Amino acid sequence: MQAVRMELKSAIILEKLPRHVAVIMDGNGRWAKQHGKPRVFGHRNGVQAVRDITEAAAELGIEYLTLYAFSTENWNRPKIEVGALMRLLVETLHKEVKTLMKNNIRLMAIGDLSQLPDATRRALLQGIETTKNNSRMTLVLALNYSARREILQAARLLAEQVQAGELKPEEVSEERFAARLNTGMNQIPDPELLIRSSGEQRISNFLLWQIAYAELYFTPVLWPEFRKEHLYQAIIDFQQRERRFGKTSEQLAQ
Ligand code: IPE
Ligand code: IPE
Ligand code: MG
Repeated sequence: MQAVRMELKSAIILEKLPRHVAVIMDGNGRWAKQHGKPRVFGHRNGVQAVRDITEAAAELGIEYLTLYAFSTENWNRPKIEVGALMRLLVETLHKEVKTLMKNNIRLMAIGDLSQLPDATRRALLQGIETTKNNSRMTLVLALNYSARREILQAARLLAEQVQAGELKPEEVSEERFAARLNTGMNQIPDPELLIRSSGEQRISNFLLWQIAYAELYFTPVLWPEFRKEHLYQAIIDFQQRERRFGKTSEQLAQ
């Protein structure tokens, strides 16, 4: 292992790890462009980054790692890119389920899976089923995911229950609302740390409800170059922050 990587890893306080880290994997296209290659080349190389940080997160003892792989808005990309991404997903899932089994990692997905191409959905559901009893870490893929859509869906479910007389309007609480989000339905806790690569500083319709109190970490590193040391760096940064949750610094010291 490189010296820098080892040094960073040992600077992490294992008792203060975030339980859930979410990542907006961005910059594949720009990385490919830098190499004079088509965008798909960037996506292919992004897979190695996924492997690397999944392994790093599991080794550290992080419980949930959520990766934003395809947003609802990403359907608006050129057809050829969308097709290539969907095929890459199938290929990667087929290859990596073995690795997930070996490392005792459970796969889950959030987002509207019903609109995915059949082959992609099948590969995904198969991966989820095969790994469902694994317990070391949960890897959540956000696919055809839109936070606004997820929030609307939860609102609709609650409205239906109110209309059916099963719930009073005043019983619509934060807990009941959260339980009807994709994350709540799968018992996935809110992320404490949200990382975005490639220098963009926006959320792009990702986990809007769930990141209410997450620490945000932006790095200029393009996704295909994102490696274990970059995750370590983000966690060290997270551990140096004071999470006040509305209180004052003095209150926290008491
Ligand atoms: C992120 O990289 C991957 C997906 C959104 C699927 P991009 O493809 O968005 O890369 P840039 O932003 O064009 O560099
Ligand atoms: C966000 O990245 C979605 C994923 C990482 C899957 P984009 O690159 O699509 O985001 P915008 O559109 O530039 O905000
Ligand atoms: Mg992008």
